[in-house]
Amino acid sequence: MKTTISKIGAYADQEVTIGAWLANKRSSGKIAFLQLRDGIGFIQGVVVKADVGEDLFAQAKNITQESALYVTGTVRAEERSPSGYELTVTGFTVISESKDYPITPKKHGTDFLMDHRHLWLRSKRQQAVMKIRDQIIHATYEFFHEHGFSKLDSPILTGSSPEGTSELFATKYFDEDAYLSQSGQLYAEAGAMALGRVFTFGPTFRAEKSKTRRHLIEFWMIEPEMAFVEFDENLEWQERYVSHLAASVLENNQIELKTLGRDLSKLEAIQAPFPRITYDEALKLLHEKGFDDISWGDDFGSPHETAIAEHYDKPVFITHYPTSLKPFYMQPDPNRDDVVLCADLIAPEGYGEVIGGSERIHDYDLLKQRIAEHNLSEETYEWYLDLRKYGSVPHSGFGLGLERTVAWLSGVEHVRETIPFPRLLNRLYP
Ligand code: 4AD
Ligand code: MG
Repeated sequence: MKTTISKIGAYADQEVTIGAWLANKRSSGKIAFLQLRDGIGFIQGVVVKADVGEDLFAQAKNITQESALYVTGTVRAEERSPSGYELTVTGFTVISESKDYPITPKKHGTDFLMDHRHLWLRSKRQQAVMKIRDQIIHATYEFFHEHGFSKLDSPILTGSSPEGTSELFATKYFDEDAYLSQSGQLYAEAGAMALGRVFTFGPTFRAEKSKTRRHLIEFWMIEPEMAFVEFDENLEWQERYVSHLAASVLENNQIELKTLGRDLSKLEAIQAPFPRITYDEALKLLHEKGFDDISWGDDFGSPHETAIAEHYDKPVFITHYPTSLKPFYMQPDPNRDDVVLCADLIAPEGYGEVIGGSERIHDYDLLKQRIAEHNLSEETYEWYLDLRKYGSVPHSGFGLGLERTVAWLSGVEHVRETIPFPRLLNRLYP
């Protein structure tokens, strides 16, 4: 019977065949242990010389790392194995041999691993991170579909820049100037007026010369947008969504979390509601902690975010930032016109901002004024202004950075390990 490692439990004490690669092996004079992976799971194949004969045993001892095989064997329950099973090998054929596989079980430098990202993905740790990423994507669709949201795809090639003009990748669109999307938000707003609740999910691009553990040039963002939702309710959606992601990873990725050595109590703590502090309160806290390099109107950097987050065992919302720090579309606080109805969600453990969101301006004149103040061309935003002309309603939304969320939930230090092929400053290969 041909099967996969993940389904092997259904065939206890029976003979099965799997397609697999050799991840690693150990052997003595009489017995060889093959660490087999088919991508879906890992299992140990045990080759006993007395059972398979001299020839096959000698061949088993010579299989090289990452050679591709068909392995036949009897499925045995084995408590100590993560899959719960082991394979007593009765035979195998080498489909293709792998010679001098560059990534050996010894330690390699990051640059070397990044140059071999196409192969590095096969390692146990990288597979675990990719599976958690996939689970988070799955849980995202699950959460939003359960609550009446429709997925709405926003364009990648755009004529507008929602998040400021300094970080745009410009390209030619025949004779016109175009940019790679920084955010799908403006299109999501149009979608929310059509479908009530939508979310976009796609690649976004920032030509930002940042070289930190939190920055990618190309990253994936989930951007929900909701009609008739104001500032406070927007925060409630965020904390429920993020709590759902953590619960879903805890429920479905036990093996991967174990591979990564993740402290599960950190994920168990991610439960709504999340604490909220205003920018002003955060600034006061920073001054109390001895940060005198920052004053009202300055943006928080990583050390500031980390210091604020350290105060809590859950993610924390920092709300009501100065208007001057935020994009043109954010709704002003009705009680104070120098701050906006926005929030950044800061993850614990130094992972920084994972969500940025706000209530949007729904008044036509105010939005038009802001577009002018930000020196944006009104012509480009005419369609966006139209949304405020025909049945405009209060609405809010947010953007969650997928890679920062994967890094945080997986406990992986750097976002470069959370996307299959990271685009970093000075890295477009492989
Ligand atoms: O705060 P940002 O720039 O917000 C927006 O783009 C809004 N239009 C979202 C919205 O309201 N619909 O980005 C949102 C999130 C950040 O909190 C962060 O998680 C992630 O996107 N992000 C990045 N992730 C990796 N690398 C980068 N260079 C990122 N820039 C932002
Ligand atoms: Mg932001």
